[in-house]
Amino acid sequence: MDIELREVSRRFRMGETFVHALSEINLVIKGGEMMSVTGPSGSGKTTLLNIIGTLDRPTSGRLILDGENVTDLSEGRLSKIRLTRFGFIFQQFYLLPTLTAFQNVYLPIRENGGYGPSGKKRARELLGIVGLSHRMKHLPSQLSGGEQQRVAIARALANDPPTILADEPTGELDSENSKIIIDTLRDLNRDTGKTVIMVTHDPEIARRSKRIVRMKDGKILK
Ligand SMILES: Nc1ncnc2c1ncn2[C@@H]1O[C@H](COP(=O)(O)OP(=O)(O)O)[C@@H](O)[C@H]1O
Ligand SMILES: [Mg+2]
Repeated sequence: MDIELREVSRRFRMGETFVHALSEINLVIKGGEMMSVTGPSGSGKTTLLNIIGTLDRPTSGRLILDGENVTDLSEGRLSKIRLTRFGFIFQQFYLLPTLTAFQNVYLPIRENGGYGPSGKKRARELLGIVGLSHRMKHLPSQLSGGEQQRVAIARALANDPPTILADEPTGELDSENSKIIIDTLRDLNRDTGKTVIMVTHDPEIARRSKRIVRMKDGKILK
């Protein structure tokens, strides 16, 4: 899926003033790209990712997905787009603590009609893709941080979305586990052609993507 931002700005009201989180961002991301967004804390990285994933709306400007302007669609239409076109990965994993690794991945598959043997098979396959076939019955508390994030990656793939959005996916991890997560995302991009957009404040991690977008004060640096 091709993603285009045209003159996207986002400001937040803070009492009497505004915070300009994004200022007139122009960006084109072609289907199949692997891209890092980097920059200091507060530079607008999360706001940019949230707008791309339709979790947030621009104050002005447009978001265009595969040529369709989706900026002003209803919340109902946007939630459909979120469900089918994006998989989300966050710094804090957000796994359900009382469910096993397998159940965490199977749940979104089942909710979208993939119940029964074929849905269960798919959950097992996705855990295999992230190298966790031997951890299916473990609870999140019985997994390392890196393993928990790999479960979250498998879950993000449940609906086979064309685009994966990851906000500081290695922020909670040591360097060894960070490397495994980045390798997993890179393999996914290379082997399945999924677009991967990853936010990180760590320049070392950003360097491992083919394309790096650097942000400062709500703008993309040239
Ligand atoms: N919901 C919000 N309300 C007010 N200000 C916000 C909100 N979200 C983000 N901001 C501000 O917008 C700027 C960019 O934030 P963010 O996109 O989270 O940056 P980053 O992810 O690069 O650290 C910061 O100054 C932040 O304080
Ligand atoms: Mg952030």
